[in-house]
Amino acid sequence: DMTTALGTAPLGSPVLTASGCSAFGQELEPFVDLAGLGAVVTKSVQLRPRSGRPTPRMAETPSGMLNSIGLQGPGIEGLLAGELPWLAQRGVPAFVSIAGTRVEDFAELAARLRGVPGVLGLEVNISCPNVESRGEVFACDPVAASEVVSAVRAAADPAQPVYAKLSPDVTDIVSVARAVSEAGADGLSMINTLLGLVIDPDTMKPVLGGVTGGLSGPAVRPVAVRCVWQVHAALPEVPILGMGGIRTGLDALQFVLAGASAVSVGTAVFHDPSATARVHRELAEALAARGFSSLREAVGYAHR
Ligand code: DHB
Repeated sequence: DMTTALGTAPLGSPVLTASGCSAFGQELEPFVDLAGLGAVVTKSVQLRPRSGRPTPRMAETPSGMLNSIGLQGPGIEGLLAGELPWLAQRGVPAFVSIAGTRVEDFAELAARLRGVPGVLGLEVNISCPNVESRGEVFACDPVAASEVVSAVRAAADPAQPVYAKLSPDVTDIVSVARAVSEAGADGLSMINTLLGLVIDPDTMKPVLGGVTGGLSGPAVRPVAVRCVWQVHAALPEVPILGMGGIRTGLDALQFVLAGASAVSVGTAVFHDPSATARVHRELAEALAARGFSSLREAVGYAHR
């Protein structure tokens, strides 16, 4: 039994896309049965369309990838008119990632998504690294993070769970997790990318137009598993959507054993666009091989 939930929202599969890596799901359609995913977690949407940061916006590293997209996207109007109906027509649940620079932006986005067909819930991206200053990263401060989450929870559809996406770039992720959970978060998405920088030895300048970027892929996996572990140990009742460098079912299993009740696959889809379906299959096999008859039994097992 691979069923699970995001807070109050039931999921047929514990494997989701990760925000930002599969846009709004359309590009994956030739490779996977989108309706078989737990949900498509959409690229973060803002109130207005944005063109993003200067190019280049991606740099490969030995075990991961650095990006500085800068929240490029269609804006909420575009999403409501185009991508969300496209997913709903296909019966693909959408977990919509929202982003903004002010608390009110997040609240307005949540209000606009109330009752929209197919919108299972909201992932609140308070941890985008590609902003002008670190002061704008709400997730690096428990008070700022809670303000966003409580405004979103108040504005959002009560039937839509609100997950806060946390940054690993903090000294104590448990204090941020506790703060947002007290502010009303129904769950936590962990982790967003780590802030990184790559310098080209030939030009002797930063590779990315935006200078710094978010590191993702296998390089960050142990950091992500550690974050999930610490937060689940401190707050065992808070549901966790785990992500960070998941490429295989055994990678996903680590997140589940650490305390995640669902996982997102992001960077891996660039090399293998059917990775989500493969991870689902491999995770199911790995759980069965270890004697679990359901995913739920395995959640947090490493702590027991
Ligand atoms: C962007 C947002 C993120 O949350 C992230 O981890 C990386 C990039 C962006 O749109 O720039």
